[in-house]
Amino acid sequence: MLLYKYISESATGTETLINGKKYLYFAGTGYFQLNSHPEVVRAASEATLKFGIASATSRTISGTTPLLLEIESKASEFFDTEDAAYLPSGYLSNIAGLKALSDMDLFDVIFIDEGSHYCLTEGAMTVGKPIVSFKNRSIDDLKIKLEASLSSGQRPLIASDGMFPIWAKSAPLKAYLNLAEQYDGVIWIDDAHGVGILGENGRGSYEQAGLKSDRLYMGATLSKAFGAYGGIIPGNSEFISKIRSGSVMTGSNSPMHAAVAAGIKGMELVKSNPQMREKLWENAHYLKEGLNAIGINTDDNTRPIVAFAPGDVKSMTNIHQALMDEGVFIQFVKYRGSGDNGVLRIVVFSTHTKVQIDYLINKLGAILSALS
Ligand SMILES: Cc1ncc(COP(=O)(O)O)c(C=O)c1O
Repeated sequence: MLLYKYISESATGTETLINGKKYLYFAGTGYFQLNSHPEVVRAASEATLKFGIASATSRTISGTTPLLLEIESKASEFFDTEDAAYLPSGYLSNIAGLKALSDMDLFDVIFIDEGSHYCLTEGAMTVGKPIVSFKNRSIDDLKIKLEASLSSGQRPLIASDGMFPIWAKSAPLKAYLNLAEQYDGVIWIDDAHGVGILGENGRGSYEQAGLKSDRLYMGATLSKAFGAYGGIIPGNSEFISKIRSGSVMTGSNSPMHAAVAAGIKGMELVKSNPQMREKLWENAHYLKEGLNAIGINTDDNTRPIVAFAPGDVKSMTNIHQALMDEGVFIQFVKYRGSGDNGVLRIVVFSTHTKVQIDYLINKLGAILSALS
């Protein structure tokens, strides 16, 4: 498969220009389409005009700008934590977060969901402590592994994605937290996909699960629901100080000003427009009803993502291409959790209209019946 077969020649949104043709677009993670929201774009442009591209120095030298101070205070307000750190990417936030928890000596052994994102697995490896993996979202397997792998007095760090990217399933965080309490350990969530869309205030998986605990730590990204770029780690002051003084932050240039300004605006928009989340769920339900009607099983999943694997690589390639011929772009993707053949994956945004969703369903339904 050609790695970069599809080149986006416009901002990605409900309609996107790909390889010279305009498509109805149901892919990516821009759930509220904030990545092309005029206020986000304006904030990024103004920051670039004022500060240039980046500071060309690290935060600790003189790369800390008022924008960086603002984004961190906005993030701690958004997630309702004592403090927050902003990093150049969500990927790095997992590495920095796990290293800081290790520096604070909060655990002895890492127990990681085998379906966790690449950055979580790599973050775990950089820590240099024993790693034990457990079956995807399996509380029973985790219990067995904790029992078998911890010697007396050893404490676990239980690490997992909050919401898994391909199948959009949540980790059983409440059970993980109970186990962390039982063994005097902590949990770490990579909530790249949950933040902005899950929970009453968009704080993500932990809010949706109704959890708040000193044992719960998380990292996330601003590059999906918030329409910006960069990683975010909300948490208590001691932990955030460790992140700030850790090698990831002290050893890299301060992030691009445009990304920081976009992140501030993205968080403001998500916070002040809860109706975007309502619209997203309305569209997710509408999409699922339509997909069920054409025979695609969407499980009990009410998220704005639907993955399905109708047949082998050849059939999925054919379905994907047939949809493109009808002017609809969904993803045919191989990613963590998709299996070796990959899956077809549909993502709906709050900005899709019912007419656009109907068009996708009708075309997909016709393609599937022609193939059966
Ligand atoms: C689950 C998960 N974690 C982390 C990341 C990395 O975030 P970022 O793109 O901000 O580096 C991604 C992908 O973007 C992801 O899907």
